[in-house]
Amino acid sequence: MSDAATKSMDAIMALCKRRGFIYQASEIYGGINGFWDYGPLGAQMKKNLRDAWWQDMILNPCWGRKGPNGDRVTCVPVETCIIQHPRVWEASGHLAGFADPMRKCAKCGHFVRADQYWEILATSSEWFASLVQTFEPSVAGTQTPGASSPALMQWAKTKGKRLAPNLALVRNPEVTLSWLATRVNGQPDAPPDLHEIVRHVATEQLNATGLQEPCVRCGGELGAPAPFKLMFESYAGLTQSEDNKVYLRPETAQGIFVQFKNVVDTTRVKMPFGIGNTGKSFRNEITPRNFTFRSREFEQAELEFFCHPSESFEWYKFWRDFRMEWWRSIGLAGENLILREHEKDELSHYSQGTSDVEYRFPFTAPGFGELEGIAHRGDFDLTQHAKHSGAKLEYFDQDRGEVLPNGSKRGERYLPHCIEPAAGLDRGVLALLCEAYTRDESRPSPELMKFHPRIAPIKAAVFPLVNKDGMPETAEKLYNELFARFGRSGIIETDAKQSIGKRYARMDEAGCPYCFTIDGQTATDQTVTVRDRDTGAQERIGIGKVGEFLAERLKV
Ligand code: GAP
Repeated sequence: MSDAATKSMDAIMALCKRRGFIYQASEIYGGINGFWDYGPLGAQMKKNLRDAWWQDMILNPCWGRKGPNGDRVTCVPVETCIIQHPRVWEASGHLAGFADPMRKCAKCGHFVRADQYWEILATSSEWFASLVQTFEPSVAGTQTPGASSPALMQWAKTKGKRLAPNLALVRNPEVTLSWLATRVNGQPDAPPDLHEIVRHVATEQLNATGLQEPCVRCGGELGAPAPFKLMFESYAGLTQSEDNKVYLRPETAQGIFVQFKNVVDTTRVKMPFGIGNTGKSFRNEITPRNFTFRSREFEQAELEFFCHPSESFEWYKFWRDFRMEWWRSIGLAGENLILREHEKDELSHYSQGTSDVEYRFPFTAPGFGELEGIAHRGDFDLTQHAKHSGAKLEYFDQDRGEVLPNGSKRGERYLPHCIEPAAGLDRGVLALLCEAYTRDESRPSPELMKFHPRIAPIKAAVFPLVNKDGMPETAEKLYNELFARFGRSGIIETDAKQSIGKRYARMDEAGCPYCFTIDGQTATDQTVTVRDRDTGAQERIGIGKVGEFLAERLKV
């Protein structure tokens, strides 16, 4: 079993609340579904992740590596608005197509995403969880559960009445079970699989309706899928009329595409180059769930990398591999992280290749959930915006085309292709939290967060062992030195309250990698103890060496 499967999401969420990483938004009003706030440690941790992305994607892209063209990778930032001209979303296709297929229960009105129906039924339907317990174990080597009529009848008359009052099996068990019996007896060599049994128990009038699918909440029959628009709407201006309707962006990417021409015209970037943007995006997700994984307000870090069409596949592969390496470098090393190339039938209509960096979250284990998508978008976006706005978005590349007699090149005009590494910062934080969460029963306080030093919100803590004999003054002096040197990269903490064991335990839960303690020996030999969070081991180092020790490990 992977270690992700053994980690409890409840325990991780409890620690996040207790230590101020993540709170429910508007909690004192009962919370609001799909919205989360970051507390002091979470806000600093998310900033560290955002800063790491900015540093390694914008300021020093790909750690100074050369791209497939042999040159250093160049990227520049923009910061674009959450609200754009509504026609941006017309051009991007979001107005017409950004919708999830939803099915509504004819009885209780509950909605469920059609494309995730079976997964949601299996993971969050109370009545389904109860019903499957009545099934006999699968026939060895097959996916076929045995559903016995007496057991189903018994369930319908007891638990079913309370859990799934609108399920056909509960409303009219005799008729419903007679259809199921006809089916089983009619094809004894091809027993129904689980999905077919579920459809049968949801169907009373088989001849009139065909097999139905039941509501995950009450068992009532679900209607046909209909699109549910995911963009939040608002109004800009005095009147709340159609003319003033605007949308909260569902992705940061489009802000980049619509500023492509300005960036080319006002800076000295040359093809190939990237434009990056971090910021909030909004999607009216129907079933926000799994903590922050699927939220209605979330932050993205997206890069649109523009290049000549002939080089686009090389760049696609380059970015795909680099992004995987990057997530590994900040602590998601190991078998919980995979790179998954999309199958042809999974690709968006404009994409010529997409890979996802996926993490095995405790709630997806043994499966994986998307952290970042790296998509070859071709020239779809620039073509669309050129068409809808009338702007000329072609790029004139002076370094291409035939060589002229004077040695210069004729140049080539083209619409660049775009590779898009699109990461989610909230999912990134969540994956890092899940990966870091560790229980070590041999410790007096068993929970600790093994953050990579770059991501840890608290970089170091300085403690006086006790509050006497000059220890607090020495600790204060060391704290001031460390704060002056490292305070820009994260929190430096000092704390003199409670026993030293409790202070270490607090730092372990916060994921602070190093604690320095001034003790009785410090005054005589100018050494302090340094305690390693992950092993709990302590060593003595000279007080004058603490800065170097930390710089080496934090890599700042
Ligand atoms: N511009 C392309 C784009 O937006 P996406 O796969 O829809 O692609 C990119 O989103 C990333 O944004 C995802 O990999 C995920 O990390 C994050 N993301 C998307 N929807 C999210 C949601 N509802 N809650 C949290 N993060 C989300």
